[in-house]
Amino acid sequence: MRLTRPLAPVFIAATLGLGAQVATAQAAPAPGTNGTTEAAASGTAASIHRGKILSQTCAFCHGLPDYVIPYPSRHVPFVGGQHATYVISALHEYAQGDRAFATMKAQGASLTDRQIRDIAAYLASLGPETPISDEDVKAPPFAASCAACHGASGVSTNPMYPTLAGQHYDYLLLSLKEYKAGKRKNGIMNAMASPLTLEQMQQLAHYYSKQPSPLVLMPLQGPE
Ligand code: HEC
Ligand code: HEC
Repeated sequence: MRLTRPLAPVFIAATLGLGAQVATAQAAPAPGTNGTTEAAASGTAASIHRGKILSQTCAFCHGLPDYVIPYPSRHVPFVGGQHATYVISALHEYAQGDRAFATMKAQGASLTDRQIRDIAAYLASLGPETPISDEDVKAPPFAASCAACHGASGVSTNPMYPTLAGQHYDYLLLSLKEYKAGKRKNGIMNAMASPLTLEQMQQLAHYYSKQPSPLVLMPLQGPE
């Protein structure tokens, strides 16, 4: 399934649905943990459960196979199985405007820090135990400079750095272009992307997109 047309009804339903859920979740008493990033990132059962409820509407985009979104056109990235620490920082970056994508800005801004940590713990808890293999693509030589943070095959061991392996090619390429142009703001990645040519970015995006990956689509949740 490849959805290239704008999905206005899904879009609006997702946004409205999220608003209602957030209101409910805020009304509920906060369970008695100290709510540190570490506690949530390490994934206590309670925070994973709250994160699952809070993120139902996220799956309208992040749970659809091959969902391509326009302006500029790219696949909605896989977020299931992504590192919690990175997801927390990504959602803050949208809210702060360091990353420009209006829908995600609204999603990030309408969530409390606590809710963001719960969602991140839930997303990190998804994913296969054994990474799924894909075709064998050799690393371009300049991928050596990425390995320290993202791992040789794009599965990062440090949770601050996103896993790239198995992510959509067009999303990875757009991210690199936006870092190079300074449109997506991150000191490390702006510096890493600035010397790359378009061809090198294409090769890197191709390489990582084909590596065995722990990333998965979010499951679409039915009524419990
Ligand atoms: C309308 C579709 C849509 C909805 C709903 C949506 N997202 Fe997204 N999300 C996107 C797109 C498209 C991107 C990539 C934007 C970009 O290029 O920066 C994205 C990016 C992200 C990223 C960054 C991924 C990365 O690798 O950097 C995270 C994390 C994320 N979304 C989580 C969520 C969560 C959590 C929710 C629900 C609270 C949500 N999204 C709801 C479409 C959506
Ligand atoms: C010193 C550590 C470091 C090195 C080296 C590094 N990165 Fe990154 N990378 C990061 C961090 C941190 C982020 C998250 C930045 C953000 O929040 O936007 C990131 C994000 C990315 C993303 C966006 C992923 C997503 O899910 O949105 C891509 C693509 C990427 N890096 C590719 C590369 C490539 C290709 C190289 C080598 C040329 C490289 N990186 C080298 C730290 C690094």
